[in-house]
Amino acid sequence: MRESPKGRPTPLPSGHRLHRRATAHAAAVFVAEHIARVIEHHAGLRAGGRAVLGLATGKTPIGVYDELARLHEGGLSFANVETFNLDEYWPIALDHPASFHRFMHEQLFDRVDIPRGMRHVPNGSVPEGAIERHAADYEASITRAGGVQLQLLGIGGNGHIGFNEPGSPRSGRTRRVTLAAQTRADNAGAFGDQDAVPTHAITMGIGTILDARAIVVLAIGKRKADIVRAALLGPITEDVPASLLRTHRAVHWVLDADAASALPQ
Ligand code: PGA
Repeated sequence: MRESPKGRPTPLPSGHRLHRRATAHAAAVFVAEHIARVIEHHAGLRAGGRAVLGLATGKTPIGVYDELARLHEGGLSFANVETFNLDEYWPIALDHPASFHRFMHEQLFDRVDIPRGMRHVPNGSVPEGAIERHAADYEASITRAGGVQLQLLGIGGNGHIGFNEPGSPRSGRTRRVTLAAQTRADNAGAFGDQDAVPTHAITMGIGTILDARAIVVLAIGKRKADIVRAALLGPITEDVPASLLRTHRAVHWVLDADAASALPQ
């Protein structure tokens, strides 16, 4: 899939798989079923076996969470699941309608049975002086859980992963970051207007993300076609954070037809 100098597609890195699905729904179902298999695998490994998932917010994963809630109604237990979200706005109240804390409750946590205390989202309401400590504690909780086994990721229009905007260091850890203007514009809808979008966020770093044992990247819609192409076929560079995923050993790229539309057939 990577383009050779002559423009011919060459294979993706070994350990990477590209899954094209005709519709956004089919892509979401594919991802949810993959997550369900990871949960069941860890539940079946040994008594008390735990699946540690990295979770994402935004429009992209909503269909995945709907499908996971449906699978839960059908009997899938999340009792052995621990989750770590990628990011949260800062500053923001936990119960702000646009907070990722609230989003996760509405989209997933209130619909499945992940035990309380096992659902971690960076806290956007910590005072400025406590952010560094909170970020270090977040990293420590991931380590204590044994590391993230499967990280679900979307891609921002500018190539960000989590809130690691273009130029973020490949080795970065959880920390406070400044949001790019494009990100604030992309996310304005939830806040009413762009000026109401917080200027900062707390995000896992790219280094934190790349520590996950496996990663599933989901991209949906025409508006992601160009950035998907850049991430998969362009140079591997901190200017396109999603391109750094090509240095990871196990990534599933799951695309609907629109998001895949700028790739060679
Ligand atoms: P979106 O955001 O799912 O709302 O497109 C993706 C992202 O910013 O990671």
